[in-house]
Amino acid sequence: MPEAPQTIENALFERFGERIAVDPGLNGLDELASLAARGVCRRFLARDVPPELLRLLCACALSAPSKSDLQQGEILIVRENDRRARIADLLPSMPWMREAPVFLVFLANGGRLPQLAAMRGKPFPNDHLDLFFNATVDAAIVLATFLRAAEAVGLGCCPISVIRDHARAVSELLELPQKVVPIAGMCLGWPAENGVLTPRLSLPTTVHHERFDDGDLAAQVGAYDRRRAALRPYRNQRDPTRYGQAQFYGWSEDKARQYAVPQRADFGAFVRAQGFHLD
Ligand SMILES: Cc1cc2nc3c(=O)[nH]c(=O)nc-3n(C[C@H](O)[C@H](O)[C@H](O)COP(=O)(O)O)c2cc1C
Repeated sequence: MPEAPQTIENALFERFGERIAVDPGLNGLDELASLAARGVCRRFLARDVPPELLRLLCACALSAPSKSDLQQGEILIVRENDRRARIADLLPSMPWMREAPVFLVFLANGGRLPQLAAMRGKPFPNDHLDLFFNATVDAAIVLATFLRAAEAVGLGCCPISVIRDHARAVSELLELPQKVVPIAGMCLGWPAENGVLTPRLSLPTTVHHERFDDGDLAAQVGAYDRRRAALRPYRNQRDPTRYGQAQFYGWSEDKARQYAVPQRADFGAFVRAQGFHLD
């Protein structure tokens, strides 16, 4: 087993195609190593996650920073087989939903703030897009922190945004009140396979200095497509009946095909029906 600095350097080279030096005297190298080498998990052992461990992870995740200390990100734990199966029935393309012993739903709760205003007899002139945005950002931070905590103890995770394809049905199943929306689900369990490291866009594409500059985007994306295909080629091409079989099928072709059909075009209507004003 290479030491942590070597693990980090190797993982980041595979991820970004560039050597990044790691000072061996840094604190927290084990955590950086697990972040650098991580991958999503979609196969789980038939082994439960103890409730007290889940509680610990929730507490760590909810220790994340929160916009104005408003604490609008929340976690809903779904353990009951029947309820998990009913959600899984909505998502037949995600069979890992059935294997994972725990399903979580990360919620943006924009309802508590107006409730506080009413409790304290104050006006609430902030029922606009920012309420939804703040709550969503907080919930996303809680999700990311939960993932980090869970992976640190050896659990595997797969966030599931596809629940938003069925946002109304899922919200009814979970009895979500007005101004509470699911931002994503998460399959959680003990991994039955090693996570696979997925290469990312190069750092010059996604890290900017002093001002935004995406340079020659086509060249950068082309280079990424080739670097990624050499390490992790796609097994299947999307929608070949419409687009044919491409000789070279890279990430950008896959994402362009994915988003060539409407995705959750009714999500805004759902969010409005949940009581958020998006103006
Ligand atoms: C907000 C969010 C939603 C996601 N939704 C899904 C999903 O619905 N189904 C799924 O299989 N993976 C989902 N993923 C996992 C991504 O596909 C995965 O993170 C991405 O392919 C990169 O792989 P990696 O995490 O292993 O690096 C989601 C990830 C995030 C962050």
